[in-house]
Amino acid sequence: MSSVNIGVLISGGGSNLQAVIDDINAGVINGKIQVVISNKKDAYGLVRAKNHGIDAIYVDKRKFENNNDFNREIIKILEEKNVDLVILAGYLKILSEEFVKKYQSRIINIHPSLIPSFCGMGYYGRKVHEKVLEYGVKITGATVHFVDEGADTGSIILQEAVIVDDNETVDTLQKKVLEIEHKILPKAVQLYCDDKLEIKGRKVHVRN
Ligand code: GAR
Repeated sequence: MSSVNIGVLISGGGSNLQAVIDDINAGVINGKIQVVISNKKDAYGLVRAKNHGIDAIYVDKRKFENNNDFNREIIKILEEKNVDLVILAGYLKILSEEFVKKYQSRIINIHPSLIPSFCGMGYYGRKVHEKVLEYGVKITGATVHFVDEGADTGSIILQEAVIVDDNETVDTLQKKVLEIEHKILPKAVQLYCDDKLEIKGRKVHVRN
């Protein structure tokens, strides 16, 4: 199978981006990141991309009249780079309907909880862990899923759980969850690039 052209969207530190870069460089993922796009100018993920010779582009949402036009600009860049697969690696903006339709079943997101818990509008980054601790659940985790028109509602590819300890803080929980994110996101990308993922309704089957 030929190598998959990947575009990664970020808003922050890009540790998940780094995990994918590392597995590509190790030859585990049959893909190539053609571009990293951020909606935040100072996102450290842009530096990570440049350090690996990957095109890193900041798109300023304020320059566009509305969310659709902002998304069209991102689509334009992805098209120029012939991107087949879009990874949302800590991208904290909602994609337009047009974007999701255009890349149907070709957008993968990582979320720091066990979906359908602690997800949807307003649940992102550290806020998720705050809510987890506030609620008092004993188990949380991370989820990789395909993106559909809803917020965190697409078909689930991989999940892994972590135990919430009694003395857990947002910082310790974030660290624990990030560790598993860095495992399951690259794994899902690897499976996608090896054409091992089959979507049947809400379910994603992993082919042997
Ligand atoms: C990660 O924990 C990711 O799951 C989360 O943002 C963080 C980004 O970290 N994404 C969301 O909350 C999406 N709803 P990173 O920039 O170090 O990869």
